[in-house]
Amino acid sequence: MAGSAQITAGPRVPVHVAVIMDGNGRWAKQNGLQRIKGHERGAESVRMAIRTCRKLGIRYLTLYAFSVENWGRPKAEIDALMRLLRKFLRDEEHELHENKVRLRAIGRLADLPESVRAELNRVMAATAHHTGGTLVLALSYGSRTEIAAAARDIARQAKAGTLDPETVNEATVAAHLYAPDIPDPDLMIRTSGEMRLSNFLLWQLSYAELYVTDVLWPDFREEHLVKAVEEFSGRQRRFGLLG
Ligand code: FPP
Repeated sequence: MAGSAQITAGPRVPVHVAVIMDGNGRWAKQNGLQRIKGHERGAESVRMAIRTCRKLGIRYLTLYAFSVENWGRPKAEIDALMRLLRKFLRDEEHELHENKVRLRAIGRLADLPESVRAELNRVMAATAHHTGGTLVLALSYGSRTEIAAAARDIARQAKAGTLDPETVNEATVAAHLYAPDIPDPDLMIRTSGEMRLSNFLLWQLSYAELYVTDVLWPDFREEHLVKAVEEFSGRQRRFGLLG
């Protein structure tokens, strides 16, 4: 996602930003609307976030769009979210191509309704060759589920004799996660003021800078993202070393 805005691409701009898009329901309630209206408005913020990342030179954007826990919501809300996702994929494909953005997804994608999975697979395949940036949608995603699946894969290989258990290290685990080729996020933004990770990228966020804003996701605009990146730019990352 190359380009320039108030902040230009450089060493102080994160390579990978991950976002917990929270507060859609509260936004709807505050505005006297049904929850789905909050999600619809949230989809607008998603479009803005993709464009702003491109302008700022942020190369990877991962969005927590649907968690494994979200399957426990009322069926009407789940159906509406799935419809919104399908619409988003159809409507955004053109812009992804125009900006050479590749679409990826992480999560238990087999859980998604066939119509959503088909659209997702189609757009991922159609944009796979793009090198202008990567949009990663976390769908039916749960970090503990992801780490457990990685452990299962590793155990299977050890049992089959193709992997020596004594050689298992951090790199082995990382290589068995959903998207081993994508670098860990540098910055994690959460909207709506909650101080939680909510089972999101627990392994990958180990050294990420965290930024929480009270702004609800449907109200999250370019200036809010720029502010988060500006704050990131001013932080000293130590990775457990001395400053
Ligand atoms: C959290 O808000 C948000 C979600 C569970 C869904 C996120 C979905 C979108 C932003 C729109 C569709 C996504 C794409 C990629 C087009 P909440 O409902 O938990 O809000 P609350 O905590 O205020 O109730």
